[in-house]
Amino acid sequence: MEIRHNISLRTYNSFGIDVSARSFAAFTSVEELAELVTGSTIPTTDPLLILGGGSNVLLTQPVDGWVLKNDLTGIELLQEDEDHYYVKAQAGENWHGFVQYCIAQEYAGVENLSLIPGNVGASPMQNIGAYGVEIKDIFHELRAYDLLEKTIRHFGLEDCAFGYRESVFKNRYKGRYVILDVTYRLNKKPDFHTSYGAIKQELERMGVQELSIQAVSQAVINIRSCKLPDPKQIGNAGSFFKNPVISSGQYDILQAQYPAIPGYAAGEGYTKIAAGWLIEQCGWKGYRKGDAGCYEKQALVLVNYGKASGKDIWELSQSIIDSVKEKFGILLEREVNII
Ligand code: FAD
Ligand code: EPU
Repeated sequence: MEIRHNISLRTYNSFGIDVSARSFAAFTSVEELAELVTGSTIPTTDPLLILGGGSNVLLTQPVDGWVLKNDLTGIELLQEDEDHYYVKAQAGENWHGFVQYCIAQEYAGVENLSLIPGNVGASPMQNIGAYGVEIKDIFHELRAYDLLEKTIRHFGLEDCAFGYRESVFKNRYKGRYVILDVTYRLNKKPDFHTSYGAIKQELERMGVQELSIQAVSQAVINIRSCKLPDPKQIGNAGSFFKNPVISSGQYDILQAQYPAIPGYAAGEGYTKIAAGWLIEQCGWKGYRKGDAGCYEKQALVLVNYGKASGKDIWELSQSIIDSVKEKFGILLEREVNII
């Protein structure tokens, strides 16, 4: 296992932020991870940052400790029953690569989650979601290494406490577990979700006569490629903020004042508001200061045009939070993990 010191993390995060890490190791087996954290290599007092694809982090300062990159790979079919395939993917597998593998095997359930950047290991962290599907819908179990007890623990669906862009790993157990592998429960018979967003229109535009998981995946890829910036061209981490969930009473009051405000049912008595709309109404869409900006096609995405620092992006996000709070009385919450 290669260990490096004083390296730039610029190519390890999709925002392209250039900060250094004091020490960096990429592990390819559980044994290597255990060796790093139980042996004499890493002092117990050193801070640790577990990194996957780096597509949901904003690095605001140098990492004065260790970055451990999870490079565990492999995908295997564990078992099947009448309705499902149980497929285990190692944490370091690229997420979209896993989606493509499932589609090629005719394993249904992940097609709406096509083209989400990052790795399998981070998929349960914030219960990744898109176009009406979340990871919790196909999650079976995961194995994680406990950095405190130095043991491996299994987590079932209930243990993960999945919510909208939330899980136990992002809250209560933040920094404690290294996710090693995730087992998904995929469907033999597709259950298509095409009512969300522009999927139906895109399928029509593509001239699709008969629905298939391949067609839905391609429709999602087409829509995403138009709306979201490719991190290889413009640094970003997807939606920077969560869509706020407010009481339906508060929504009704806002709607009386702003009839166009988009709201979606979010459980009994609650409404989810499109944060992109709130941000756009505050005049931020297309804004740029230095190399930090608010994306011109999607106001929920903050971008690094080249040399912005993590602090520049963070300060822009704070100005956006302040102005949305002032205009609408709604407090936006960051989705991206601030390091
Ligand atoms: P990283 O950024 O490396 O890590 C994210 C967090 O998880 C960090 O706190 C890290 O410490 C922790 N972590 C990572 N791996 C492990 C592990 N193995 N064990 C323990 N902790 C770990 N997200 C969505 O939900 N839906 C979308 O539609 C979506 N679209 C996006 C579009 C773009 C263009 C971009 C850039 C991002 C988008 N995202 C989206 C956000 C991002 O892709 C996901 O959050 C993804 O799961 C992050 O994976 P990663 O491997 O890059 O995680
Ligand atoms: N909108 C605007 N202006 C904008 C952007 C959006 O008015 O600049 C309004 C429009 O009314 C639009 C609505 O917001 O109809 C919703 O926009 P969009 O369909 O682009 O979705 P989103 O709410 O911005 C969410 C997720 C995405 C996910 C898509 C598709 C969150 C925080 N974001 O975005 O996830 O891909 O829906 O399901 O829930 C991510 O988490 O990083 C991410 C990209």
